[in-house]
Amino acid sequence: MKLLFALSFLFLTGCSSIFRPYPCGPVLDQEGVQIFKRQNEFLGLKEGVVFADLGASSGYYDAAMAVFLDGVTFYLNDIDRHCLNEKNLSRVLRHYSKIKGRPIQESNTFHYVIGTPTRTRLPENTFDVIFTNATMHVIDYPDSILADLHRNLKAGGNLYVRDEFVYNDEIKKCGSKKCGHQLLQYDPFVKLMIRNGFELDGESHEFGHPIYKFSKVNLQTSE
Ligand SMILES: C[S@@+](CC[C@H](N)C(=O)[O-])C[C@H]1O[C@@H](n2cnc3c(N)ncnc32)[C@H](O)[C@@H]1O
Repeated sequence: MKLLFALSFLFLTGCSSIFRPYPCGPVLDQEGVQIFKRQNEFLGLKEGVVFADLGASSGYYDAAMAVFLDGVTFYLNDIDRHCLNEKNLSRVLRHYSKIKGRPIQESNTFHYVIGTPTRTRLPENTFDVIFTNATMHVIDYPDSILADLHRNLKAGGNLYVRDEFVYNDEIKKCGSKKCGHQLLQYDPFVKLMIRNGFELDGESHEFGHPIYKFSKVNLQTSE
């Protein structure tokens, strides 16, 4: 899993950064973390936003984002409590607070929520932005999780999915040997999103793997 985390970062940063052996995800140095400024803008992150990361691991990715954010409420969600816990989160926040030059938690709020393979356990009608990185292809019950995410998002909120996809009938597994999961085919993925009440509303190919932006559609009126 560690290699997958590192690869995920490599794709994001163009390989220029230093990795350190933090559990459940590497951290970046001052130079490497700069890419998150632009990615935050694409994700619409700014003061006042309530944000969730599905499959957040230790929160190492969110702590990197928070270097450039103030006034954001973060909800980190994962099913793996060995990675997502107070100790691991504190370590990555401490690392990135040094880069930020002041404590990240002074101006941002962090919650963590342990979900199950079928339920996010995140609060309903709460989030302006939900993000998920390198996780969509490992979710065992995607319809169930997406139904929850639809309820978790506020009306007018957006769900952003960053992952590696395949665009033909090729069968490809994700980067790490340990991962073992097949990457999602793009067309069935978009169908999965549509049937769960999400409409494709934009995309970026600027950050290594693509990020697909979805709007929440009212399921009752779209049927
Ligand atoms: C490949 S890792 C990606 C972690 C992190 N987002 C990153 O960018 O490196 C996938 C993560 O998804 C989590 N996961 C798998 N199924 C999940 C589910 N149903 N709900 C929440 N997290 C899940 C795993 O525990 C793991 O931490």
